[in-house]
Amino acid sequence: MTLVHHLDARLTAPLAALCALALPLLVPGCGDDSPSGSTDTATARGSGVDGARQDPVGPRIRLRLSGQLEGRLEPCGCASGQVGGLARRSFANQRDRGYDLLIEGGNLVHGGNFLDELKLLTTLNILDDKRTRYAAVGIGPDELELPVEVLADYLASFQLPFVSSDLVSATDATRHFPARRFVEREHEGVTVRIAALTGRAPEGETADEFGLELLAPRTAWKAAMDGAAPDTLRLLMVHGPDDLAVEAAGFTPTPDLVIAINGTHMEPPREASTVEGVPVVHPGIRGRFLLDVTLEREAGKPRITDYHAFPLKGSETQPGAMEDPDIKQLILDHRFEVKESGVREELAGQRPTANGAEYIGSASCAGCHVEAFQVWEKSKHAHAWTTLEEAEATGRYEWPVTHYPDCVACHTVGYGEVSGFTSPEATPLLRGVGCEQCHGAGSAHAANPQEAKLGDVAPERCQTCHDYEQSPDWDYAPRWKTIEHR
Ligand code: HEC
Ligand code: HEC
Ligand code: HEC
Ligand code: HEC
Repeated sequence: MTLVHHLDARLTAPLAALCALALPLLVPGCGDDSPSGSTDTATARGSGVDGARQDPVGPRIRLRLSGQLEGRLEPCGCASGQVGGLARRSFANQRDRGYDLLIEGGNLVHGGNFLDELKLLTTLNILDDKRTRYAAVGIGPDELELPVEVLADYLASFQLPFVSSDLVSATDATRHFPARRFVEREHEGVTVRIAALTGRAPEGETADEFGLELLAPRTAWKAAMDGAAPDTLRLLMVHGPDDLAVEAAGFTPTPDLVIAINGTHMEPPREASTVEGVPVVHPGIRGRFLLDVTLEREAGKPRITDYHAFPLKGSETQPGAMEDPDIKQLILDHRFEVKESGVREELAGQRPTANGAEYIGSASCAGCHVEAFQVWEKSKHAHAWTTLEEAEATGRYEWPVTHYPDCVACHTVGYGEVSGFTSPEATPLLRGVGCEQCHGAGSAHAANPQEAKLGDVAPERCQTCHDYEQSPDWDYAPRWKTIEHR
């Protein structure tokens, strides 16, 4: 708390200016206290009941949207100035209460392995925070990569309002899938009904127990809105391609807002788009931004009167100052649990290598590719594992990064594949971004170079690791120059 007070004091003078710059999330004090914030609330309160109100409008609601976290509990720290993370989200949601409803679209995790399970559990635990209650949490297709019985057990153990409008259990199903067809919320006289299109049915042996049927999007939406009072604001979260989000704007009854939870925009665009008069918004991916939208319906037509996207930034001078400490602790607990349950080793060696050969390590290439090896040896790629070890040892991270599969995958050779990196002890030759991480497993080639070719490395290969978070200003040509070795 001391830290926060300190920031408050430091920021008091330029507060108005910072708020005007649309940074209220980052600046304690902009939120509910700002004049526009409270006027909005007053208007919403008055709608439909107070005949003496000055500015008659239809139902109006302030929404704060997020989605597509994809298991990014916090940024990886590979580059400075990264945005996002659940501890910052929680901090922001508590400091700036300039919203009436918090809505999370779903796709919280991306994958179906044991780590994804642990991430989902941690994330649900974090979202289930009584200080920042979510009005709705959509279920996305990515959650269904987990075995359905596992997913159902996790969802059922939280009080969160999960929504899936198109996944419907048959009446004779032996198990119940714990998502509702819709969620209806009332906030100061305004009723909002929220539906979500998951767009994917579960697979696997136990899927039958749930008797789940995937309804067509239109049918699912219509059924979810059935019986809603005319004044109700109708929200639709759409997973899947953007075409579907566009199509959804034409559904009956007409939605007041379509929230597209997909990868079309990495960050929320500068403004909302409109399809046939229906606003369509994108909260972006990886939980990096929050999107504030004030929605109202006037003379039967929905419109957005306020639209702000906020990056979840940290503090450059005070690491952790913009994070909720309780949430940070939950994430830390998760990190240590991953180490203690041996997840790194468990997830190693699961998939076959792309070319069918085995990893042998960069040292084995050295004898025949002397120059290439010398260049590589001096490059940062050769150092990539040591970087993780050092970051851990120096306390730059407060948790065991060398044991966390996400970090390991980009800082070693072949992690997750047969014969790939398992641990520094078991596979010491595969530490760092070795030759084979770019060129492919080399056993066959080393045994018979003329016959077993490794082929070219496409520039796109680099961006599987050097993506917009790790290397925001990525440019292939100059970077390749730094490591050129042919
Ligand atoms: C498997 C993941 C991965 C792939 C694929 C990859 N890199 Fe890297 N790269 C890294 C990591 C991790 C580091 C940082 C290592 C460190 O600092 O310890 C790095 C660092 C670098 C650096 C040094 C930082 C700098 O900009 O000076 C260059 C240059 C680089 N990579 C170029 C490339 C190029 C070019 C490609 C594609 C041909 C590529 N990388 C493919 C993971 C990868
Ligand atoms: C998607 C691949 C990827 C993942 C996942 C990843 N890294 Fe990195 N990391 C990189 C790349 C690429 C670089 C080099 C960036 C550059 O210089 O352009 C890097 C650089 C780093 C650096 C050096 C940064 C510096 O300032 O010198 C550290 C430390 C690091 N990563 C730690 C981690 C940790 C800890 C994790 C897990 C939380 C992690 N990385 C996950 C790809 C990745
Ligand atoms: C026994 C010697 C030998 C070893 C060991 C060896 N190479 Fe090669 N490599 C060659 C020869 C010879 C060629 C040229 C083949 C040709 O042009 O027909 C070659 C070609 C290549 C090429 C060019 C593309 C291709 O497929 O022809 C790459 C890339 C390559 N090697 C990478 C590696 C890597 C990575 C390793 C270690 C995993 C490795 N080599 C181990 C001898 C070797
Ligand atoms: C970060 C990715 C990366 C790493 C690590 C890497 N290379 Fe390469 N290598 C490339 C790229 C990209 C090229 C140039 C494009 C191509 O020819 O595929 C290349 C080219 C080569 C060539 C020449 C191929 C030809 O057709 O002339 C050889 C040989 C080679 N690398 C061997 C190695 C060896 C040996 C190592 C480890 C000591 C290594 N490379 C490490 C990405 C990498």
